[in-house]
Amino acid sequence: MPKGEHDQFEPVILGFTCNWCSYRAADLAGTARVKYPPNVRLVRLMCSGRLDPTFVLRALADGADAVLITGCHPGECHYLEQNYKALRRWLLLRRVLRQMGVEPERIRLVWASAAEGAKLAEMITAMVEEIRTLGPLRRPILPVPAPHVPAPGEPILAEAAR
Ligand code: FES
Repeated sequence: MPKGEHDQFEPVILGFTCNWCSYRAADLAGTARVKYPPNVRLVRLMCSGRLDPTFVLRALADGADAVLITGCHPGECHYLEQNYKALRRWLLLRRVLRQMGVEPERIRLVWASAAEGAKLAEMITAMVEEIRTLGPLRRPILPVPAPHVPAPGEPILAEAAR
């Protein structure tokens, strides 16, 4: 691709953050006035293990050019080993994207503790530049069904029977 082709392109990146670490790291970066590009919209989850893979596919199908997944460092998850679950999902999602003809670099996993605001800002800045180089995500991505949210009182096993 010719140099500078996407110079004017401002990528939209959805960032899923863990309440206990990366969300606080982003907050720390803000209070310490460490600057990072405003291209990332952060969504707070209680843990990276809460990340349903359909959240990522849906974000890409609905307008995001890339998705950032962040969580506590391995061994430091507040819910024991849920960030390993996030790691497995990230690896799987990369393979799925590749099969769909989408650059796997469009989903990134970053570990960041609550004290690593500057590091998170640096990673976000680098990611924005990399996605800018890749250019806008070519759509359409296949439609992604919304995750099923059980109604109050609905037996959990009903979902498994689907
Ligand atoms: Fe942060 Fe699990 S509590 S990744």
